[in-house]
Amino acid sequence: ALLLNPIHDTEPPSPTKRHTKVTVVGVGNVGMAIVHAILSQHLADELALIDAQADKLRGEVLDLQHAAAFLPRTTIKSSTDVSSAAYSDLCIITAGARQRPEESRLDLLKRNVQILSAIVPRLARAAPNSTILVVSNPVDVLTYVTYRLSGFPANRVIGSGTNLDSSRFRFMIAEHLRVNAHDVQAYMVGEHGDSSVALWSSVSVGGVGIVGLVKGEDAVLEEMRERVVKSAYEVIALKGYTSWAIGYSVGSLAGTLLRDQRKIQPVSVVAKGFHGIEEEVFLSLPAQLGRNGVIGVVNVELTEEETKRLRASAKKLWEVQQELGI
Ligand code: NAI
Ligand code: LAC
Repeated sequence: ALLLNPIHDTEPPSPTKRHTKVTVVGVGNVGMAIVHAILSQHLADELALIDAQADKLRGEVLDLQHAAAFLPRTTIKSSTDVSSAAYSDLCIITAGARQRPEESRLDLLKRNVQILSAIVPRLARAAPNSTILVVSNPVDVLTYVTYRLSGFPANRVIGSGTNLDSSRFRFMIAEHLRVNAHDVQAYMVGEHGDSSVALWSSVSVGGVGIVGLVKGEDAVLEEMRERVVKSAYEVIALKGYTSWAIGYSVGSLAGTLLRDQRKIQPVSVVAKGFHGIEEEVFLSLPAQLGRNGVIGVVNVELTEEETKRLRASAKKLWEVQQELGI
């Protein structure tokens, strides 16, 4: 079977549901890059922007409205009140602290658990039928926290996860082989962070397995994986944060979800029960996504080494989660 454990594959809402509303909580570097990607694809009829900084909110909305002549007509509103997310189809959470140079994503945990603990229950009440897409870091643990605090079914709580890492991975392979990244099918899975796992055994370029395509491959492939893991630190050291790649990554996920594209993308889902993972943690696995969130998790083959690394990732996140007491 292609899909393990079809989590929830009901038909999308009736065709009479014409109005699509997206809420973005946090209008910082990442939130606004995501808003840009959503507007450019005309994915929403209505955008609700939420943040703690009223002036910043107002400034961003005015600045976007001044682009109306170049964009598809979209109602854009803003509020510091989470209840303005009412009736949203998709709620994207980017609020929170970001890494300073040399800080890991897990270093943000305490600050961002506190922030999301205040936001998520209100968001779930305001938009009880939405899918929540978590971006704030550490994204896998914060997606678990959102899952627990929202009370939503597992298919409607997703973390952006390694969709971004996989894009970096595909870029590096594409550059190495001088092909288009769209023709490279490659997944990073597990933690969106230092312990992410490159699924070399399933990498293909134009349908041709990569193992054997890359000369002296082990060293080159391992070096590429390390460069993917280091990417964020490198960009943060240079410009202070990352935004464009995550903006387009989440814009792509929003398109898949809102337009019921049923695409397979690596996102953070409940990993318990897959590949021998026993802990209730969120980790990225290739998942099929549609209007109701996660349709199912792809039954991807892992080598022994890949399985071992994935389980180690799960254990590490489980230990972190245990300290939260959520
Ligand atoms: P930023 O500092 O530019 O923006 C954060 C925004 O959150 C600010 O506008 C701030 O006012 C708002 N905020 C803070 N507390 C809030 C609250 N209680 N309620 C509402 N709004 C609140 O940071 P940036 O660069 O946009 O990063 C945001 C988050 O996204 C960070 O946690 C960062 O680590 C994460 N991130 C995740 C990525 C991923 O691949 N999952 C990639 C890049 C960033
Ligand atoms: C990234 C970090 C910030 O860009 O999560 O991958």
